[in-house]
Amino acid sequence: ATDTTATDTETGATATPMGFGRMHRKEDARFIRGRGNYVDDVRLPGMLHGAILRSPHAHARILSVDASAAEAHPGVKAVITGETLAGMDLAWMPTLSGDVQAVLATDKVRFQGQEVAFVVAEDPYTARDALELIEVDYEPLEPVIDARRALDEGAPVIRDDVEGRTGNHIFDWEAGDREQTDAIFERAEVTVAQDMLYPRVHPAPLETCGAVADFDRVTGKLTVWCPTQAPHAHRTLYALVAGLPEHKIRVISPDVGGGFGGKVGIYPGYVCAIVGSIATGRPVKWMEDRSENLMSTAFARDYHMRGEIAATRDGKVLAIRVKVLADHGAFNGTAQPTKFPAGFFGVFTGSYDIRAAHCEVTGVHTNKAPGGVAYACSFRITEAVYLVERMMDVLACELDADPAELRMKNLIRPERFPYTSPTGWEYDSGDYPRALRLALDMVEYDKLRAEQAERRRDGGPLLGIGISFFTEAVGAGPRKHMDILGLGMADGAELRVHPTGKAVLRVSCQSQGQGHETTFAQIVAAELGVSPDDVEVVHGDTDQTPFGLGTYGSRSTPVSGAATAIVARKVRERARLVAAAMLEASPDDLEWSVSEAGGRWSVQGSAEHGRTIQEIAMAAHSNLELPEGVEGHLDAVTVYNPPNLTYPFGAYVCVVDVDPGTGQVKVRRFVAVDDCGVRINPMIVEGQIHGGLADGIGMALMQLMAFDEDGNHLGASFMDYLLPTSMECPSWELGETVTPSPHHPVGAKGVGESATVGSPAAVVNAVLDALRPYGVRHADMPLTPANVWSALQGTPIRT
Ligand code: CDP
Repeated sequence: ATDTTATDTETGATATPMGFGRMHRKEDARFIRGRGNYVDDVRLPGMLHGAILRSPHAHARILSVDASAAEAHPGVKAVITGETLAGMDLAWMPTLSGDVQAVLATDKVRFQGQEVAFVVAEDPYTARDALELIEVDYEPLEPVIDARRALDEGAPVIRDDVEGRTGNHIFDWEAGDREQTDAIFERAEVTVAQDMLYPRVHPAPLETCGAVADFDRVTGKLTVWCPTQAPHAHRTLYALVAGLPEHKIRVISPDVGGGFGGKVGIYPGYVCAIVGSIATGRPVKWMEDRSENLMSTAFARDYHMRGEIAATRDGKVLAIRVKVLADHGAFNGTAQPTKFPAGFFGVFTGSYDIRAAHCEVTGVHTNKAPGGVAYACSFRITEAVYLVERMMDVLACELDADPAELRMKNLIRPERFPYTSPTGWEYDSGDYPRALRLALDMVEYDKLRAEQAERRRDGGPLLGIGISFFTEAVGAGPRKHMDILGLGMADGAELRVHPTGKAVLRVSCQSQGQGHETTFAQIVAAELGVSPDDVEVVHGDTDQTPFGLGTYGSRSTPVSGAATAIVARKVRERARLVAAAMLEASPDDLEWSVSEAGGRWSVQGSAEHGRTIQEIAMAAHSNLELPEGVEGHLDAVTVYNPPNLTYPFGAYVCVVDVDPGTGQVKVRRFVAVDDCGVRINPMIVEGQIHGGLADGIGMALMQLMAFDEDGNHLGASFMDYLLPTSMECPSWELGETVTPSPHHPVGAKGVGESATVGSPAAVVNAVLDALRPYGVRHADMPLTPANVWSALQGTPIRT
């Protein structure tokens, strides 16, 4: 059941469908009227305010911290230092990668912007003022900034807090078959190799991080409001680290202004706010400013990669080999399931049917902020896709082949699904050639190549056409293989239908703007034959929702969305039993149907002899006599453990004009064909894709977390860390194919991050395609005018 349709980007969403389809987002009614409720909107009686003193050095020993003047400052209620926390055994906290991270530094500071002290005061301005009164005596140490120097003999040891540590090495990880891969490389007709950097970037959500902590000394209950993407996991970690009973902790993640992976982890500020509240007995709010957000939280990528491809002369790719040096910063805070220290980088064979593959990843510490977050991707898949898609273009260049034809020749054929990759990933479904063909048709590829040839002959701005074909692996994940700090990645869901047929769905995932209140209501609506307007979705509050691991890596629809469909089906089955009692028929004789009038159970063959779900809901709460063993009411709970990841994919084509005089790149067109299986709300899916494509332009052309050689952060404001705006983005041209996931209850695959994963390679390939006549084979992101111009002069900038 697949079909191919090219759609335009109009929303066309007006009427409320009974199930899947375009409808406006329910949550937008409050967002566009300024009625959202974000952490910084939380104001509690007697609330105090916190501010963090941060290190000016990238690497320095702390000789002393004198907070007495700050403590004496009017309005200051408490000053918390590393020493204070050490007394509570809270100076260090676990990271998502099983490392530890300083909450407030005690011995050394290890990156510029690291947390050193926390002031709690009557208002935020007093708290900030008092930071200047804290005297810290630092002894500066030589920093390690370039990951490629981290393992040098004699390099300063950053993590001397870890007993026995003599260097900056964190881990080695490999995947695939080295021997088989090497053997193919030795015999191959053609081999190509390319070094490339996926630079350190930051998700830069509109809302920065922050927390309001409220510890009630009487009840012993701690309530924490913070924009976390994983409220239940946070609660369990607080319980484990602070020794507070879990039922005495409530984590509320209210409206969130963008997460993109950056709000998965626990940041020192959250712990400081909690300690501040415990110490003062009053609620404490801490909100980061923009520079703090860019300096100390949530960097992503920072992969130095060397890719190699072995192929036949006519362009059949036989093997791929990769070496990665991964810069994890001062504390290994990378987010990924435990068994995957390099995330899902193992899918680096991409969308191609390749016989052999091998990769090695080495993680190192540097004097930079911890992170390695899965910024709008499923744990390092963006890096993997970028690598293989750049390598395909490098091979095309070497063979003087057309990059579209080369890809078509190597794509996994539809009949090969389910397809097991050489590194052991089982891709669930796909028709790749169809998606690529659609993208090429939409962009009128041949015409563009003809225009390019003409331009190359006649001069003028350079025209570049870049292709990227990506496969994502989303919906982490099967409990057998995947956990985060020991917590399995299954999600719960609860559905309660009230007597009048209105329903409340409670889920563990947490929207950061993706429209879950709409799409999850649509899933229930489709299963029960009710209007999505009659389904309220509750999320983001551990006291109100079942346990689950949250929202990141596009896992909400694949996992919590599946839980939602299953729990609704359970309710529907309960409704069948109640309907049978109402109709005095056997449940086996009933059939389910959904018409414009809604969902109903009726006696087979006589549709008029039936009961609507609303009638059944009322009866289930009435004194109707129910058969033995059938409970009253209409509700159900479930826990969904996904059998596999889902594998969305897409074919992207980017068209750029490059001014050879200035190096300025203008994205003229961007065609994106996405396949995320069945689309619950195509309008929301398109919105997710639009955002991801803009993200891709940002990373490819503008965004870079740069440092000088002393470790000074050079991108701590939006004046330096450039985000894309509508000025840099073309009008997106979207297309779709639909290949349902065979194991997801409604055939949906995740899509939230597809476009961020797939688009950077398309933009970079387009720019480098434009530069091809100049003999430029590769240049690293971001392809700023300076970088493009330097590449044109034959000296691309190495970051
Ligand atoms: O986990 P996250 O919400 O970031 O990603 P997702 O599960 O891919 O969903 C992003 C948004 O797109 C949600 O509102 C989904 O329900 C919606 N979606 C959809 O309508 N159809 C799909 N096949 C996939 C996602």
